[in-house]
Amino acid sequence: MAPARRHSDINSVAGTSERISRVPKPKVTIMDHPMVMEQLTLARDASTNQVAFRKAIYRLGRYMAYEFLRTLPTEGVRVKTPMGSAKGRRVRGNDKIVIVLVLRAAIPFVEGMYKNLPMARTGVISAWRGKAPKFEIEVGYSKVPVIHKEDVVIVADPMLATGHTLLEVARRIVKQGKPGRLAFFSVISTWEGIQYVAQGFPNAEFYTCAIDPRLDDHGYIVPGLGDAGDRAFGAPE
Ligand code: URA
Repeated sequence: MAPARRHSDINSVAGTSERISRVPKPKVTIMDHPMVMEQLTLARDASTNQVAFRKAIYRLGRYMAYEFLRTLPTEGVRVKTPMGSAKGRRVRGNDKIVIVLVLRAAIPFVEGMYKNLPMARTGVISAWRGKAPKFEIEVGYSKVPVIHKEDVVIVADPMLATGHTLLEVARRIVKQGKPGRLAFFSVISTWEGIQYVAQGFPNAEFYTCAIDPRLDDHGYIVPGLGDAGDRAFGAPE
């Protein structure tokens, strides 16, 4: 895969420069490889059924984790081939990854991530957002492993909309210890949401496949893909 693009021109998106100038530039990487775009397009399409939607989110998790591996350090090793000796490289820190999944939409996303980060320890948090305009967050189940200073924590939530949920989730996570790196993985984000989280965690890294232009009055991303949990698992009655 071609390298993911570090977004260096954050202020150029129409209508966002005023909001964004209030806090330092967040570290945003847009993963826009053609294979990512293909799965994202499938996920966005309202005619994609539940099974195909979950598969698309699963694949996006897999591809994003694959690209993320570029950011981990590697070490030189020497191996014996059947014909001689060769220099090689190994990823270091594979075993220092902690993935925290935000129920429920992140389930297929994280399933995909495990394909490339199989040694990750895992935390689970169920959090949901109250109604606009306050978007108060309620947290139910929360189990996060102890976090060490050399850990890389990835918070997985397919939709980074207002940022209220992820800010609260991150606050819970750091109660378990301060990681070396904190990264948010989302399929679709908004600048507004990224800014909101970055105000609390200015050193956090954001990895996303797309940044959409706006939120509706209920805090849904437009055009987005709808309610990711409902699309993956069915809407509750
Ligand atoms: N959560 C979703 O599932 N979709 C949105 O658009 C926003 C939050």
